[in-house]
Parts: sequence; structure tokens; C-alpha cells
Amino acid sequence: DPSPESTFVCPIIIEDDRTGLDTETIRRALRDNLLYIQGKLPELASKNDLYMALAYTIRDRLLQRWLTTQQTYLKKDVRTVCYLSAEFLVGPHLANNLINLGIYEQVQKAVSESGLKLEELIAQEEEPGLGNGGLGRLAACYLDSLSTLEIPAIGYGIRYEFGIFDQEIHDGWQVEITDKWLQYGNPWEIARPEAGVEVKFGGYTESYTDENGNYRSRWIPDYVVKGIPYDTPILGYRVNTANTMRLWKSEACESFDFGRFNRGDYYGAVDNKVHSENISKVLYPNDEPIQGKELRLEQQYFFVSCSLQDMIRIHLHENPSLNSFHQKWSVQLNDTHPSVGVAELMRLLIDVHHFDWDKAWFITQNTFAYTNHTLLPEALEKWPLSIFGRLLPRLMEIIYEINHRFLDKIRIIYPHDDGKISRLSIIDESGEKYVRMAHLACVGSQAINGVAALHTELLKKDVLRNFYELFPEKFSNKTNGVTPRRWIVSSNPRLTFAITEKIGENWIKHLEDLRGLENYVDDGEFRDSWRRIKYDIKADLANYIDKKVGIKVDPSTLFDVQVKRIHEYKRQHLNVLHIVTLYHRLKNNPNLDITPRTFIFGGKAAPGYFMAKLIIKLINSVAEVIDNDPTIGGRLKVVFLPDYNVTFGQRVYPAADLSEQISTAGKEASGTGNMKFSMNGALTIGTLDGANIEIREEVGAENFFLFGLTTEEVYAKKAAGYNPQEYYYHNEELRAVLDLIGSGFFSRGDSSLFRPLVDNLIYDDPYMLLADYQSYIDCQEGVGRAYKDQEHWSRLAILNVARMGKFSSDRSIRQYCEEIWRVQPVKIELPDYIQANA
Ligand code: G1P
Repeated sequence: DPSPESTFVCPIIIEDDRTGLDTETIRRALRDNLLYIQGKLPELASKNDLYMALAYTIRDRLLQRWLTTQQTYLKKDVRTVCYLSAEFLVGPHLANNLINLGIYEQVQKAVSESGLKLEELIAQEEEPGLGNGGLGRLAACYLDSLSTLEIPAIGYGIRYEFGIFDQEIHDGWQVEITDKWLQYGNPWEIARPEAGVEVKFGGYTESYTDENGNYRSRWIPDYVVKGIPYDTPILGYRVNTANTMRLWKSEACESFDFGRFNRGDYYGAVDNKVHSENISKVLYPNDEPIQGKELRLEQQYFFVSCSLQDMIRIHLHENPSLNSFHQKWSVQLNDTHPSVGVAELMRLLIDVHHFDWDKAWFITQNTFAYTNHTLLPEALEKWPLSIFGRLLPRLMEIIYEINHRFLDKIRIIYPHDDGKISRLSIIDESGEKYVRMAHLACVGSQAINGVAALHTELLKKDVLRNFYELFPEKFSNKTNGVTPRRWIVSSNPRLTFAITEKIGENWIKHLEDLRGLENYVDDGEFRDSWRRIKYDIKADLANYIDKKVGIKVDPSTLFDVQVKRIHEYKRQHLNVLHIVTLYHRLKNNPNLDITPRTFIFGGKAAPGYFMAKLIIKLINSVAEVIDNDPTIGGRLKVVFLPDYNVTFGQRVYPAADLSEQISTAGKEASGTGNMKFSMNGALTIGTLDGANIEIREEVGAENFFLFGLTTEEVYAKKAAGYNPQEYYYHNEELRAVLDLIGSGFFSRGDSSLFRPLVDNLIYDDPYMLLADYQSYIDCQEGVGRAYKDQEHWSRLAILNVARMGKFSSDRSIRQYCEEIWRVQPVKIELPDYIQANA
């Protein structure tokens, strides 16, 4: 952070112990940190003490890179990308930093002195669960790629004290436990109280005339909250660039109200502190109706205002005015959660920096870009005017003015089309009035993108059609990607080694080089070793499953995996219908020859989402019955692994044979799990939805198990009046399966337990499971047959890995940089006394 008063200029000589990368230095540093930071003697140190000492040892090695990066950016006055996201699901830092620094082996040796294995210390790290799923994890992959590609960037978000809840399973039901990720401290972050900013809430506005006779507005808030930044360095892979993830914690400006204290109101004296700190207290789970949740709007405005004020402060340190703000900052809105930023930047420019409206609007529109992540109408954010106006009165005025000017322009284009005007308006006036956040984002941004080709097409045709008609040039597609550093190198060292042995290590930064593996697909020895590796990874997961949930699974069975948030559109229950179908067949014909399978599920349901929770219960109930049925003889196993998170993902993706990507066509914006599976050699069974379509294009139709209706067919069926009962009555096997579930067979005779789920499918079926059922079952039979021919299966798996180059987040980020952000890489040169990455 720039500090203009600073006159203290001298080269900082850092002891080798803090920067050296050889085993001996790391060993010394580790002992040193154990003693002087953890305050522990080696013989009394717990595993966690050792983890903390190691984390500090590695952080030391990031800091010079990080500070040099920030200094270079300031000196060169670079153009910077700011990724505004209410969620960053970064996952554990330690292993990734070791890989990116290139010191895994040295550290492994240094740690061995403690009598522990490095892997045990890595496992000790509590992951920051600051996200729900795909959206937050995408933000984290993008930070990794931005640093690796040496792009100046800051990730701005919220430092939730409690992240996504931990999940336990009691009697088959999900139970939510508070996530206390900070309880033992977070060695990766650095607090910067000196860079704190203030954010206003509530109150009213008034107009006044300034000293130059200009008419202005001023916001007299009800209360003011302080935002304190906590910075985490994000190091790129084998480069010196370490960008910042800056997360805001809310605090009271004055933590103690002496006035109230002196009046004897002891509790009231800390009231303000409690309220202020609540803002960054807890992450909201997805799929909860949010309209009434004022605190959520407070969170959004809080972090957005803090971040924009921070950018302005940095900008004014290097530039005389904010006239060039949009030339130096490109701000990406990760979904609508930060879209209030459009109005906030207007407020800061007009009220605080005294710009006129038109100039402020020009800067604002040229600063922001917006990524949409969902087609589900219920997930498009809108805030009741009553709440919005009360909490953010000045922002409300500004939004009215933006809307007024916008609609005036529209009236010229569509003079007699009132319907169009009300469809485009930022304010929804059809019933109770709402602010439509997606509309604000569209109007206030220079670019709008979807996250997969189909998704972008559907945005243009459907959800944002009216905006597309108005400004088609703003729309583009940016298919998601994931970072191979975390999702292959860190989570699958065996596969990494096998690949690198054949094609060198360039693929880690240039994933398209994986194509080189195609040369080995006919090499029998290579396929043998491929299978051995997969088996070993599956055996590891089998051990873990046994330890975690006490179920024994056989690594030679087909591992059929579905891990993701539990949601009806993702159709975990379609997967269950397949399992029950197989079970039912085996019961009728115990000698039936089927490919033995282990079905593995993981995922959290929103605490208030009844149907999602019932699906978890159903999976566990089916698992229990099958497990206790001796006639099945281990041919089917069902496992629900609790508490799906990044760490668990890293364990399960490498072990999968089959990846379930079975959402209703047109519902899953992209998916990113689909990419992680396929990169690790799983084959996909999937619908033509989201990025599945592009994965299939890349790997080849013959290497992908496709089933189900297309989006057009889904739309057409809906339009024609979809009736799931037709399927129920005409498909005997389907009926038997649904009846078995409805009968209480899996619920100890309680026929009411799963009734809501079964009835929902028979009478409503909004996600069209019954329409896709037969096609899914047939396709699964093909999977079973294919798996029996292990040679053939290995070929398909190798080809999947070889052709996944497109889905590196490096490719996505390059496209954002070239087509939306227009930013260039900036090389970071370390001072001579710092040892370069190994
Ligand atoms: C959401 C979308 C998903 C997309 C992801 C990142 O993830 O639903 O399709 O891949 O954003 O763009 P979710 O939060 O559902 O996991």
C-alpha cells in the first residue's frame, strides 16, 4: 500500500532464513518459526504447531515476491483487473504454494526431520470455505491463472468469519455445523488496518449547493461501518508474480459507546460493535430465498464500497485525478452480487469527487464488465425497493436516475412499446417493486458474458434477450476453465508424474500440450501403467471411505461419482433412479451379469431446501438397504461422503472412472467439476448441457456417454404441456422403481418419507427426470459394457485427458484479458538477493 509520508528508503536486507529455498535453510527456518512464532519446543509441538510453523516458513518465501509485485505495479502504473466476488473458494494454500514455488521435494525432506510426513501437515490445513460451489471456486481458479499469466490483478471479497457450514450426516440426514475455519488462526493472511475504509448505511439524503453554486446531494447515514482489509498473496506457477486477494472484515468505527455506558446501558454500549461485526460474520448458502435478507445486501454493498474506495485511493496515489480511472482499472462483476458497484462508483465520482453525471457515467460504464452464472430465474437477484431504499438511500436515488436516463433512450428506440420498457427497466414494477440487479449490471457494464457457449446463447435468446437486442456488441462467451496446478498437479501427483515422464512438464502451463499423450494411446505398457495408477488412487480413496464412513468398497469396481451442490436441476435423484433400477433388476434376477459399481456422492444442500435434503436422505437410505442385502454381494455399493469441499474434491476427482454430469439440458450454466473429472481420466456420462457440450466436442463424441433431451426438446416438451405421468404409466420398470421408493422399502416401511419426492416426479417433474430416464438407463448400460473391456476403457480415458487442453483456466483468463479487460502481462523481477523459484 502506498504511504505518501514514507521517507524511509533503504534496501531491505532479508535474512536468508526467510527466503532461501534449499532443504537446509528451510529446515532451519521451520525450527525457528516453531520456536519464535508458535512458541513451542519441538518435542512438545503438536501436528498443528508444525503445520503453522511450516505455513509461516512458506509465507516468508511469498512475501518478497508479493511486495516486489505490488511495488512494480505502482511504479509502472499498470492497468489492473479487479475481480469482485462475494465468494472465493480457494481451498488449502500450503500444497499449492509449494508447487508454485517449486520446492515440494526440499520441504518434504526438511519436514521428515520432525518424524512426520509432509502430506500429514498438508492435511492439517483448515480450508477457507468462503464459497458455496462452482461460482466461488471459479473465482479461485481465475486468481491462480491471473498470477501465473503475470497479469496485474486483485481479487476483492469478504472475509467471512464463518464460511459454508460443515456437513455431518446423522441417520441419513444432513446436519449443519458452524465452520470455524479461523479458530486456530490463519497464517496466510496479513491484516492491513491502516488501509481501512468507512462505509455508510441507512439514514437519509439531502441536497445542498456547494461553494461553486452547484447543486449536490449528500448522504447523512444512520451508521457507519469500517472495512479492514486482510490480504493473502496468490503466487503464480513458477513466476515471481504474487497478486493479492483482499478480503474485507467489518468492524465498528468506535467499538464502545461511552455515552450509553455512562447512562448505565452496558449492553447497548457494545451494540454498534456487534451489529457492525455481523456484516462479515457468515456466508449465505445458495438456494435460500434472499429477498428478505437485509444483511446480505449489507454484505454486498459493504465489500463493493470498500473495494472501490480502495481502488480510488491507489489510483490517486499515482494519478492526479480520476479522469483516467477506467483506463487503469477493469472491474469484473462475478455475478450480480457485486453489481451495486455500478451505482456506488457513480456515487463516489459525483458526491465525493464532484464529477458531473455524464463524465461519471462514461467512466463507470467503461470500468465494469459482468459475468452471469445462472439461467435459473429464481436465482436472479432482485431486492425489494423498501429494503434497498432504507439501507442505501443515496444509491437508490442514483439507480432511479440511471434508470430514468436509460429508459429515456429506450423510448426513442421503441417509442410505443411500454411492455419492452417495463421488461428492460432496472425497477420491476409488476407487483411489489424490486431493483433488478442483473439489469443494473447490464446497463452499467461495457461487456456481458456467459460461462459456456450454450449458456451464452441462452442468455441472448432468453434471460437477457431484451438487452442483447439493444447492445449485441456487449455480449460474448467465456467458457469456464479450471487450474491444472491444483486440479491435476497438486491433487493427482501420480498422474502428473506419468504424464510428465512422457511429454515433459510444459503442459502444466500450456494444457493444450496434453495432446502429446495421444501418441501413447496405442502403447500397451503405457495403458498398463495408466490402469495401475488409477487402481492405486482408487485404493487410497477406498481406505479413506472406510475410515470416514466405515464402508468397505472394492477398488476394482467402476467408481461412478457425482459430487456437487445438491440441487434438483443437477438431478442427483436421477442417479438414484438408476441405482434402484439396477437393484431391482438384481432382485428379480440374482444371477444377472452387471458391471460391479461403487456409486459415490458428495455435496451440500442449502439448509432451507427441503427437497435437496430429502435427496440426501434418499441416497443414504438406498445405500443402507443395498449394503445390508447379502444377495447383492458387493456388486453395488452406494456411499455418501459427508462434507464435500475443495480438499475432498482433490481426493475424489482423481479416483473417478465415471463422471456424472446429468443436469436437465439448459439448466447448468457451465459446470467445472465436469472438467476436473475428465482431466483426471474419468469418462463422462452427460446431457447436452453447459460445458458438457464443449467437452464432448473436444474429446470426441465416441469418447463421451451422451443421453437425454436437448435444450430445444426440453423447451418444446414444456411448451406442449409436459406430463410426467405418461412416462410413469408407460414405462414399467420406471414405475416399479418409483413405486419401490414410494412404498417405504428404503425407509423402514415409512411410506410417507419419500412421498413428496416421488409425487413431485410423477405429477410435476420440473426438471424432467422421467423424460430422460430411459435414455439415461440405456446409456448407463453402454457404460457398464465399455468398462468390461479395460483396454478399450483406458484408451478412452487417455484420450479424454489428452484433449482437455481447452479447459485450463489459463485459456479462459487469456480470453478475458484480450477481449474484455485489455490488460497486458507485467514481468516481475526479483531483487538480486532473493533466490529465484526452484
Ligand atoms: C455456478 C453455475 C455453474 C458454473 C459456475 C461457475 O456454479 O451453476 O454451472 O459452472 O457457477 O461459472 P454452482 O454455484 O452452481 O456450483
